[in-house]
Amino acid sequence: MTLEKQGAGGEGPSPSRDLRRYAALFASRTRVMTSSVMRDLMAITEHPEVISLAGGLPDTASFPGEEMARVMGQVARENSARALQYGPTDGLASTREAIAQVMAWQGASVEPGDVLVTTGGQQAIDLVCKALIDPGDVIVAEGPTYPGAVPTFTAYQADVVQVGMDDDGMKVDELAETLERLEREGRRPKFIYTVPTFQNPAGVTMSLERRRRLVEIANERELIVLEDEPYSLLRYEGTALPTLLELDGGRFVVHAGTFSKMLAPGLRLGWAIAPRPVMEKLVLGAQSTTLCPSPFTQLFVSGYMASGQWPAYIEELRGIYRTRRDAMLAALEAHFPPSATWTRPQGGLFVWATLPDFIDTTDLLALALSANVAFVPGRAAFVNGDGASSMRLNFSASEPETIDEGVRRIGALVAEQVDLFGAITGSFPAVAGEEPGEMAEVVELPRRDQEQRRQG
Ligand SMILES: Cc1ncc(COP(=O)(O)O)c(C=O)c1O
Repeated sequence: MTLEKQGAGGEGPSPSRDLRRYAALFASRTRVMTSSVMRDLMAITEHPEVISLAGGLPDTASFPGEEMARVMGQVARENSARALQYGPTDGLASTREAIAQVMAWQGASVEPGDVLVTTGGQQAIDLVCKALIDPGDVIVAEGPTYPGAVPTFTAYQADVVQVGMDDDGMKVDELAETLERLEREGRRPKFIYTVPTFQNPAGVTMSLERRRRLVEIANERELIVLEDEPYSLLRYEGTALPTLLELDGGRFVVHAGTFSKMLAPGLRLGWAIAPRPVMEKLVLGAQSTTLCPSPFTQLFVSGYMASGQWPAYIEELRGIYRTRRDAMLAALEAHFPPSATWTRPQGGLFVWATLPDFIDTTDLLALALSANVAFVPGRAAFVNGDGASSMRLNFSASEPETIDEGVRRIGALVAEQVDLFGAITGSFPAVAGEEPGEMAEVVELPRRDQEQRRQG
C-alpha cells in the first residue's frame, strides 16, 4: 500500500480538498484545539543562528555523561527484564519512593503509595482535566498562566477565567471576588490552576500569606486547586515556602511535579498526588492513554537517586542558572528602555518583561526573528488576547554572553519602536507598572483589539 501524498508536487489531493474530506469526521473539540506557541517556535529556533530566549529548556549539557552511562548500564545489566516490560499504571515502587523523597526535599511529607507517576507534568495537567472537565466548565487560572496549559484547557473545551498577579503571585482577593461573581452567575469552577513558585511565565512566587488564604478559600468552597510545581528546587536566593499540598493536608490540593527541570525533560517523567477519590480517576485516565509510564526511565531515575549524586547536581544547576538569571537582569537594565518593566525571579527559568502598551510583542516577534532572536509573546499566556505588550524571556538555556546579545537585539528593536512612537505622536511612553512592586501586565492599558490589529 502506498500512502497518499498530502498535496505534494501536484500529485494526490490538495490540502483544502483533504480538509473537506476529513472535516465531518473530526470531534467538535478539534475546533478549539490550538497548537502551543512554544512548540511552534521550537522548530524555528532550532536553527543555530537563532538566539532562543523562547523555550523553557533546562541545560541538559551540564548533566554528567559518564554518570548517565553508568546508571543506564546498571539498569540494562541488572534490571533489563523489568525495564523493558510493561509496568503498573501508577508507577514502579522504587520510583514512587524516589518521588516521595523529592517531595520531602520540598518540605512535603508524602507516602509513596499516594504518588501517581506520569509521563511528564504535562500529563498530570491533562489527566486532571480529563477527570474533572466537561465542555463549558470553568477553570480559574493565573493571568498570565503557563502557556503550555492553555492548549490542554482548550482541548477539553474549558472556559478559562484568569485572575491577575503581582510580585506576590496570584491576587487572592481578586480570586475571591471572581469566585463570588461566578457563584452569582450559577457557575462553580472545577479547579483553580496555579504555578505558585517561580511561575512560568511570570517568574514570581506566591507569598506565604496568599498560599494560606488560597488553601482556606479552597476548603471553604470545596474547590480543587491544581498546584503545578516544576521549579521549586531551582531557587537561587530567598527562603523556601511550603507547598499548597502541605498547607492543605491533601484535602483539596492536587499536586503536579516533574523531573523535567531538575533532571531532564527527555525522561518524560512527572507525578501527581491527589486526594484518594480524585487519584482513582486520574489512574483510570492514565490507563486509557499511556498504560504505564516508561519503566526504563523510571528505573533510571530511581537508580540515579540511589547513587546519592542528585543533590549535588541540583546545586550545580542552581549555580549555572543564578549566573544566567543575573546576566539577563543586567542585560535588560543595559538594553531595554526605561519605559519597560520586568520581574526579578528568585528562581526558575523565566523573566516576564512588559513594554509600553503601543508595542505588540506578537508583531515584535516577527521583527525579532528576522534579527535571529526569539521570545514567547505575552498573548500565549492569556486566553483573551491580554498580555499583548509583554514577553517571556528564558535564561536557563543560553550562556551569559548569548543572553546579553539576545536581549541587546530585542532592546534595539524596542528602542526603534519607542522612537517611532515619539516621532509620530510627539510624546514619551509612560512607564508601565506604575505602582512599585506591581507586575506590569496587571496595569490596565488600552489595547488594540484583533480586528484593529489586522487592519494595521
Ligand atoms: C508550569 C509547567 N507545568 C508543566 C510543564 C510540563 O513539564 P513536563 O516536561 O514535565 O511535561 C512545564 C514545562 O515547561 C511547566 O513550565
